[in-house]
Amino acid sequence: MTDNKHDIEQPEERVPRRVIGTPAPAASTSLLGPDETPGELSVAGVDLQDEKTAKKGEKLAALCFTITFLAGIAFVVSYVVFQVGDLESTQTSTLALGGSLTLALLALASGLVVWVRMVMPKYKLIQERHAMASDRETRSYVGETFLQGAAESGITKRPLLRRTLLAAAAPLGLAPLVLLRDLGPSYTNFDEKLRHTVWGEKTKEGKPRRLVVEGSGAPIRAADFNSPGGILSVVPEGYEHDLNALAKATLILIKFRPDEIKSGTNVNWTHDGIVAYSKICTHVGCPAALYEQTTHHILCPCHQSTFDAADGAKVIFGPAARPLPQLPIAVDDEGYLVATADFAVPVGPSFWERGDAEAEVIEKGGQS
Ligand code: FES
Repeated sequence: MTDNKHDIEQPEERVPRRVIGTPAPAASTSLLGPDETPGELSVAGVDLQDEKTAKKGEKLAALCFTITFLAGIAFVVSYVVFQVGDLESTQTSTLALGGSLTLALLALASGLVVWVRMVMPKYKLIQERHAMASDRETRSYVGETFLQGAAESGITKRPLLRRTLLAAAAPLGLAPLVLLRDLGPSYTNFDEKLRHTVWGEKTKEGKPRRLVVEGSGAPIRAADFNSPGGILSVVPEGYEHDLNALAKATLILIKFRPDEIKSGTNVNWTHDGIVAYSKICTHVGCPAALYEQTTHHILCPCHQSTFDAADGAKVIFGPAARPLPQLPIAVDDEGYLVATADFAVPVGPSFWERGDAEAEVIEKGGQS
């Protein structure tokens, strides 16, 4: 019984046959000799390193690897010897770890480069480039196929389909233009949203908003927060679980002895030595809540920006460019701490323009 499939005459291929996988190399670029099979590497086209250069390379690479070994040991020793703690020891540890690791990686990379360039043989390889354009037959085949597809889709014969498709695509084309509006006048509203926090809003009863302890939600009686050096993480009452609000409104509350407060702090915005600062670091917004009681330093753990809490939370070290904003506080009729107004300047990272609000505060002699 014959197989009919083999009897049917196959049309001549109109496009070049697709080659799956890596094509066979052209004879002129092959590293194999005419009678060699794959697996037999020909030395034709290969420059072997002369023994003198190879020996030199071997010594140089070995030296690099020895340096890598020693630097690796130094890294481990540094980790054990230099413990982090205060600012100085942390800097020393970072320097030792970073320096030894850099040296180890650099020496390892140099050794490998020397090994490849001075010890291993060099190959001369030529890769042929072919014309980018398809041949005429392929182009005409694509053209024919496209026209055939268009005819079969009925886009020319069925105007209802064509018009509704165009109508459906039009709003999608306009979508990017609508998004561009965010760069225009509506930016002003965005700016406003960044400027204000919920501390500026009164409660439903029209009273100033109380400060409550983060986690427990307990309001803070000023008389109870009375040990100098004490620190609390604080959120606005009514917004204890609102992450959007908390992202800008979280505070740290610090109690000072009156003689500890310096001129950078606006004393009119404090109550009995209690000062409230934004907890959002002015570098890139990490929570800055590590507090060193003896020096009054607030430390941001992300990039080590350090702020002087006694002096208006001015930056004394690190990449932050401006102080942590201070919140004006007082006590209500029952002696609980409340915010008397919103922050006078925007909280958080300083990468956007602060503009008029800050200028106004500077004019009034408040915190800048
Ligand atoms: S976010 Fe605080 S120092 Fe970078």
